[in-house]
Amino acid sequence: MKHTVTLLPGEGIGPEVAAAAQRVLDASGVQIEWEVLGARAENTNKATTGAEVLNAAAIESVRRNRVALKGPMATAIAGGARSVNVALRKSLDLYANLRPVKNLPGVKSHFDGVDVVIVRENTEDLYSGLEHEVVPGVVESLKIITEKASTRIAKFAFEYARKMGRKKIHAIHKANIMKLSDGLFLHSVRAVAEKYKDIEYQELIVDNACMQIVINPNQFDVLLLPNLYGDVMSDLAAGLVGGLGVVPSGNIGIEAAIFEAVHGTAPDIAGKGLANPTALLMSSILMLHHLGEAAAAERIEKALIKVYKEGKHVTRDVGGKAGTQEFTDAVIAAFPHA
Ligand code: NAI
Repeated sequence: MKHTVTLLPGEGIGPEVAAAAQRVLDASGVQIEWEVLGARAENTNKATTGAEVLNAAAIESVRRNRVALKGPMATAIAGGARSVNVALRKSLDLYANLRPVKNLPGVKSHFDGVDVVIVRENTEDLYSGLEHEVVPGVVESLKIITEKASTRIAKFAFEYARKMGRKKIHAIHKANIMKLSDGLFLHSVRAVAEKYKDIEYQELIVDNACMQIVINPNQFDVLLLPNLYGDVMSDLAAGLVGGLGVVPSGNIGIEAAIFEAVHGTAPDIAGKGLANPTALLMSSILMLHHLGEAAAAERIEKALIKVYKEGKHVTRDVGGKAGTQEFTDAVIAAFPHA
């Protein structure tokens, strides 16, 4: 079957890792027609609303194709234009962020056998972007939690666990302090958990969860979190298996899904041919499963694992000497023969 996929190459190292992923996918045998577009609208510096930072043609393309592969986009810190990443997720209502975290052979890490899936609510919480100055020297940021979004993400997590044969879900919260907002999240999740008696359900306060996961990550199976804690804990989990260069992510909604690397634009190495495309390749594997192309997904995964096991053609960030091109060539050369 032929698929049309929107490719949003992104900024910084984005175009380099996107080109690598495109090459590997095309070589994997899966039939993909690519629509390549920039995600950012032109002249966004003064843009104030989320929608204004987005290239309308790119959004239209993702809506039409229902699936996209995306490279990282830069976001200004403290001021400047709003985040394109957040705007994309909001405008397409990509409410579930899925981040499987697993060891890759040969990648230096503190633990072996890590196999945790993080399910993060992707649309609200402190990411609503509702901030204002109350008086000079005092600002307020609104944390929005709704029963609807919390229930929806909980259902996603439990359905995902059931489908993938996962056994246990931990809901992560700070409802001891944020009794109303995190309290509502927790009550909503509990109501969903009641309907999935086949999945073990537990709760953990976020600070304790951070400590527990760095002591013994293997005790966790699926973590379910509101947006901000999910953001923090998913990078923390990536650090357990070697960092942001080796973990994938999917942003999934009812009408569309965008698969992207978790790392940023890496301005320090952009344009130098040094970027590691592994994260985007692993996100491509998630995308292929989403498209029902399990065989191609497995071919790429096997090739990746082979290249990492051999360790001769891996990139600098994981202790090797190869550049993006050499690594990508090695992955393609490692495809199992049909
Ligand atoms: P970053 O992930 O871009 O870089 C952190 C460090 O990791 C750097 O030393 C970088 O060289 C390295 N690194 C990241 N990806 C790599 C790769 N594929 N191969 C080899 N090394 C890699 O994080 P930073 O510096 O905090 O953010 C830079 C920009 O990226 C910011 O504008 C930020 O807003 C944006 N960003 C975008 C994301 C997205 O589009 N999903 C996610 C995170 C950050």
